[in-house]
Amino acid sequence: MEHQYPDHRVDGRRTYCVTGATGYVGSWLVKSLLEKGYAVNAAVRNLGSCDRLLTLWGGGDRLKLFRADLHEEGSFDDAVHGCHGVFHVAASMDAIVNQLTDDGNY
Ligand SMILES: NC(=O)c1ccc[n+]([C@@H]2O[C@H](COP(=O)([O-])OP(=O)(O)OC[C@H]3O[C@@H](n4cnc5c(N)ncnc54)[C@H](OP(=O)(O)O)[C@@H]3O)[C@@H](O)[C@H]2O)c1
Repeated sequence: MEHQYPDHRVDGRRTYCVTGATGYVGSWLVKSLLEKGYAVNAAVRNLGSCDRLLTLWGGGDRLKLFRADLHEEGSFDDAVHGCHGVFHVAASMDAIVNQLTDDGNY
């Protein structure tokens, strides 16, 4: 049996969420989706970092920004709510590197 996906449209348009929207892949996804006429919920870690991208994206009322952090439980809830699909490309590069020991090992 064919799976029926819910069709959440805003003013007749499908809405997609893009996480990591300020990143290399995410920013191009946002631009591409807007150019195709979709509405986009862009999830970003720091809303202030979007200023330069807003010019690139355009989108007008089809673009909504949401603050969300991978380390904060539930912080993506609003961004994904009601979306037809999610492009989850936020990627944390936080790494834990142990201090070198006296013998030069980690
Ligand atoms: N680039 C490629 O050619 C390529 C190819 C294949 C697969 N991929 C995969 O695609 C994914 C994205 O790659 P990318 O090149 O777009 O990486 P990127 O430019 O480093 O972007 C990463 C995004 O994740 C966000 N992010 C980092 N930590 C976060 C956190 N704690 N909470 C919320 N957002 C956070 C960053 O936000 P900030 O702007 O705030 O740092 C940024 O928007 C990665 O998994 C990568 O392995 C990339």
